[in-house]
Amino acid sequence: MSELSIITALDLGSSSIKVLIAGITEDFHLEILGKSEVKTPKNSFNRGKIQDISKTANEIRVAISKAEEDAKTKAQNIYLSISGEFLRSENTSKKISLSDTAKIITTEDVENLRRTTTSYLIRQKGHDNEIVIHDIPQSYNVDEQEGIKNPVDMSGYSLENHLHVIMASENPYQNIIRTIEKAGYSIKQAVASQLASSISVLEDQERDLGVILLDIGAGTTDISVYLKGNMKFSKVIPLGGNDITNDLTIGLRTSTEFSEKIKIKNGSLKPSLKNKDEEIEIQGIAGRQVVKKKLSFIYQIIYYRSDEILEKAYQDVMKSTNTNLINAGLVLTGGTSLMNNIGMFAEEKFNLPTRIGYPKIDRITNDIKELKSPKYATAIGLLYFGLDSFKSKEIKISKMKSENNINFKGIFTKMKNFIKELS
Ligand SMILES: Nc1ncnc2c1ncn2[C@@H]1O[C@H](COP(=O)(O)OP(=O)(O)OP(=O)(O)O)[C@@H](O)[C@H]1O
Ligand SMILES: [Mg+2]
Repeated sequence: MSELSIITALDLGSSSIKVLIAGITEDFHLEILGKSEVKTPKNSFNRGKIQDISKTANEIRVAISKAEEDAKTKAQNIYLSISGEFLRSENTSKKISLSDTAKIITTEDVENLRRTTTSYLIRQKGHDNEIVIHDIPQSYNVDEQEGIKNPVDMSGYSLENHLHVIMASENPYQNIIRTIEKAGYSIKQAVASQLASSISVLEDQERDLGVILLDIGAGTTDISVYLKGNMKFSKVIPLGGNDITNDLTIGLRTSTEFSEKIKIKNGSLKPSLKNKDEEIEIQGIAGRQVVKKKLSFIYQIIYYRSDEILEKAYQDVMKSTNTNLINAGLVLTGGTSLMNNIGMFAEEKFNLPTRIGYPKIDRITNDIKELKSPKYATAIGLLYFGLDSFKSKEIKISKMKSENNINFKGIFTKMKNFIKELS
């Protein structure tokens, strides 16, 4: 497999660094060649921000090397996930006149307008030190006609675009890039986690009907909202499953490792009333004696923090979106969506039909059990993002090649006719 057809997902998370190296097959599918997951060291990287460059760089190096050993090939074309409060998003639009006489809209017109729109946005007050990570087209207006998906080749006097722009504060973003470089790698592109997860988890029909996706990880909860097929809102809340674990650590006076185990084994959000008086043994900190605590106490701690996370997400969605337009419902993904009964709990809060989002693996040729988990939604989404970019580039190149061929044939025929006319 040539280096050009290798793509790598680097999902830098608050609880683990996940790396997937995949090869692109001839029919634009992916074969996972290697993978690794290493625990994110304490005080190194949290909620999308670097706390210690050299610690994080070391662990990234370990994670990528492990995946490379597994894949027996080097990590190439690295797509990196980014998340955190330093990401901001905004919907924006701009209109330009094309010409006095109706003009055929070209790809360049659309691209130029996109560039002008984002550079205008970034120059506005309040966007100091921000850089554009994504400018996702929602729709276009050509003259008075609204809701056009692709205006190329249409004729019109004016063109207006509607974009969902995701921006990052420059310093925290550059710190991540510097960390990857210190680890000895460079990235092909940074992709917002909320976008990556939505690519791997959501169905097109859900996007069309209106859907909310929450990727509840360890340190962040990434929100994305789709209406009529387009991303309309995205935001990162700096809370996740690690906050539930920390509350248990404090409430139960135990170690983080023990409270994490309890959370995964016994955690639930709609516990059955039957076992709530059951008691479990809690290990004391640094050799202190074991104490017994009722399960109802543990459920309560989990309830309060989960309720806070979902309430914050609900308020953000309510402020930005007319929830009457959310006709498909809510999807939860990320590791914390594996919490028992969190789906039912969220369904009540949002009053929307809810499902747990597992990454779709229909574009992956080999069957890898560990990847079939909401924890891998972002990493698999990064691979699909890379695959789609690769595919659209390949299509462009082959279109150019065939057009050149046609042009060449055209010149050849003209020459033949010219010679005929002369004789
Ligand atoms: N069965 C489970 N029940 C409850 N929580 C779980 C379960 N399995 C995993 N988790 C939690 O999921 C979180 C890890 O999820 P994930 O791998 O999506 O996070 P991350 O990508 O490392 O972090 P982030 O994206 O927030 O920076 C941890 O907080 C972990 O405790
Ligand atoms: Mg994550």
